[in-house]
Formats: sequence, structure tokens, C-alpha cells
Amino acid sequence: MAETKTRLKNSLIDKVVMDESLQLNETTESAWIDVIQKMDKVYADLVHYQVELEQKNAELEEAQQFIRSVLESMREVLIVCDTGGRILQVNQALEDLSGRLERELLNFPFNELFGLESQPLVEQFSEKLGNDDVVDCEVNLLTQGGGFMPLAMNCSSRYDIKGKLLGMVLIGRPVGELRRAYEALNKAHIDLKQTQEHLVHSEKMASLGRLVAGVAHELNNPISVVFGNMHALKRYGERINNYIADVNKHLDPDLHKELREKYRIDKIESDMGPLIEGTMEGAERISNIVLDLRRYSGIQKEQPEPFELKHVVMTATEWVIKASREKPEVRYELLDSCVIRGRQGQVHQILINLIQNAIDVMERQAEKLITIGCDRDDKDVRIRIHDSGPGVAEGDMNKLFDPFYTTKEVGKGTGLGLYISYGLARDMGGDLSAENSADGGAIFTLTLPLKVEADG
Ligand SMILES: Nc1ncnc2c1ncn2[C@@H]1O[C@H](COP(=O)(O)OP(=O)(O)O)[C@@H](O)[C@H]1O
Ligand SMILES: [Mg+2]
Repeated sequence: MAETKTRLKNSLIDKVVMDESLQLNETTESAWIDVIQKMDKVYADLVHYQVELEQKNAELEEAQQFIRSVLESMREVLIVCDTGGRILQVNQALEDLSGRLERELLNFPFNELFGLESQPLVEQFSEKLGNDDVVDCEVNLLTQGGGFMPLAMNCSSRYDIKGKLLGMVLIGRPVGELRRAYEALNKAHIDLKQTQEHLVHSEKMASLGRLVAGVAHELNNPISVVFGNMHALKRYGERINNYIADVNKHLDPDLHKELREKYRIDKIESDMGPLIEGTMEGAERISNIVLDLRRYSGIQKEQPEPFELKHVVMTATEWVIKASREKPEVRYELLDSCVIRGRQGQVHQILINLIQNAIDVMERQAEKLITIGCDRDDKDVRIRIHDSGPGVAEGDMNKLFDPFYTTKEVGKGTGLGLYISYGLARDMGGDLSAENSADGGAIFTLTLPLKVEADG
């Protein structure tokens, strides 16, 4: 009891309650009101600070959430270090790639995240700290399960607002993604180039077509003249020969011999026939070429009609094989029935060209095989003619369809077959292309629309 009394005497309450001088009178009452008013003000201030603090807290939290969402949505890896290279912060992308959680990584030396082979490069980051930035340096980040992921890393120094060096910020983009983007770009570039080449090629073919049609037309008249004149010359030659023979009968044999030698009549007589024959043959070849060209230039255009593709493929093949000395083996992989509406004669002509070419390239080999395959979709049908020949030399691929391109000896090839066939295929809204097969030989693919529109 005595102890409690002593404690009370020393406390503030004690003073207020016990001290006689503090007993309420007028003066002490106003002092008390003063104190209470001050306390009120302090309390109001406190409430105000509390509200402000809560507001600041909410703002801070929002800012933190914003930064976190940015860091988490980054697909690049982010590592923030102090000047000693200890990790202060990482983002989700690094956690995902390295397979380690942020809390495991905090205070961890950043260089241990990278493979041994990358260490000389990683050392640069610390060496250049406060001086140069490192840009696009390819390092290998160790990943879960002992693998690695190549990163294109940028490293820059980090400062506080007073400019004091605090450490570094590393940002790495997985190179796989860059490569994929690069490959996509590359592919787009190749596609674009191919389209451009195709356009240039089509335009070249179209203008060549016009040129050739014009030339063919113009050549027709002079060739008829050559033909007509050669026939007349042949007849005249025969008559002159007869005339000379008659005159000779009345001449002195010595004079006859002398004159014949002087004018070298023997040689002329023996040359005359082959010269005329040769010229006529040449004119005939030119006339055949012109006929082919005129055929292509659409002078004798047929109207589209429905026909069975299998039938045309088989008759064209049989025709060519019947006419050739060397008979190849033919394998048909055709559609049972495929009726298309197009120009049967033109399709026939293209197929004859392609099959003849296939037979020609296999001329010198013992095993000769031609596989003729067919497939279709809703719009087109494709006929593939695959031979077991030597294929086409890489550098010659883009010359195949040029007019007069041939590797055959003079008199055997005109170099017009593929050119004309290409023109005919395009004419029907189709296409003709060539490629080398992985199994050897060349494959020519004729694409035809199932329905060719009639003209006019
Ligand atoms: N199946 C093929 N395999 C390899 N080369 C070919 C094939 N078909 C055509 N060629 C090449 O294309 C050239 C042109 O063919 P083409 O236009 O039909 O003219 P030509 O048959 O008169 O030579 C041929 O000389 C040949 O070099
Ligand atoms: Mg040919």
C-alpha cells in the first residue's frame, strides 16, 4: 500500500489531482481550455496527416504495380545490379528463362547467370561500368536443366539523381526470337523477289509472244517466195541440164571436154541437186517454225470444250512413243476421271512436247522411265511428267522457257517446244513449271484450271 502511494505521488495524474495549486479556479480553468484546444488542433493535424499518408501510400502502391506490370510484360530479360555486380532486381522473363525465383536471385552475383564461354564478354559489363554502354553483345544465359539461351544483351550504367553511380541495368533479348523475326523477314524478301521475277518473266514472255507473232507473220511471205522460187529453180535446173546434154551431142568431143573443164560443169552438175534440196529443206524448217509460232500466237484458237483429261494424256503419250525408236517404260498415276473444260488440242500439244523432251533427254541411257501423275483440287488440276533423265543444270533452269533455247544438235531441236507450251498453258489460265526431282530426273508440272473461259 505504502509503495502505491509513493508511485501515485510521482505521476502526472498525481500532480493534477493532489496538487492543491492545480485545483480548478478561474485561472486554471482557462489554462485547461487552452490545453484542450491545443490537443484538438494536434488531433486534427494528426487526422489530416493520416489521410495524406494513406493517399501517398495508395499512389505509391499504384506506381509500384505499374512498374511491376511493365517489368512482367517485358519479353526481354531485365537484371538490375549494384556496382559490385550483385543482383537487386530481375523480371519475370528472367525467372522464366533461368528457372529461378526472384528471391533466390537477389544479392546473387549476376555473372554466375551466364555460361563459362560468355564470361570474358560478361566481364566487359563491369569493366565498362560508368563509361561506355555495351550494345547487342551475344551471351549465353544458363537455363533450367543445364541448357542455355543466347541473349543479345545491352548493358548501361545506372545513376541516382545526383549523378552518383549506383550500378548497371542489363537488358537481353532472346536471340531465338530475333532469328525467327530475321527468318520471317528473309522469307518475305525471297517471296517478294520470286513474285517480282515471276512478273518480269510473264512480262518478258508476253512481249516476246507479241514480237514472235509479228515476226512469224512477216516471215510467212518471204518464205513462200523462197519456196516458190526454189521449185521454179529446180525445174529450170533440170531443163538447163537437158539442154546442155542436147547441145553436147552436136559438139566436137574434145571441145566438149575442154569447155566442161573450163566452166567446171561436172562440179556444178553434182552440186546443183543437193544445193537445191538443202535450200528447200531449210525453207521447210523455217516454215515449220513459223507454223508453230503462229499456232501459239493464237491464230488458230479453238473454243474450250469439256474433255476427259486421262484420255488426252494417254493418247498424247502413245503417239509420241509410237513415233520414237527408243521406247521408255511409262507409269501412269492418273485420276480415274477428271473432266475439264478447256482447249483439248492445246493440252495435247503441250503434253506431246513434254513427253518428247523426256524421251530425248533419256536417249543415251539404258533405263528409261516416265512417270505421269495427276492431282487436283477445287480449282486446278496438275499433271506432272517426271523422267529418269539427268535433270536440268541449275544455271539452265531459268532459260528453259526462252524461245530458241535448246541443247539439242542443229536439226533436232528448235528450242521452241517449251516456250510455246508455256504460252499455251498461260493462255488457258494455267501454268507450266520445271524442277529437278530429289530422286533424280526433271519434273515438268502443267497446271490447268478445271474450267477455261471461252474468248469473247
Ligand atoms: N525433261 C527434261 N530434262 C532435262 N532437260 C530438258 C527436259 N526438257 C527440256 N529440257 C531442256 O530444255 C531445252 C528446251 O526444250 P524445248 O523448248 O522443248 O526445245 P527442244 O526440245 O527443241 O530443244 C532442251 O533442249 C533441253 O536442254
Ligand atoms: Mg522439245
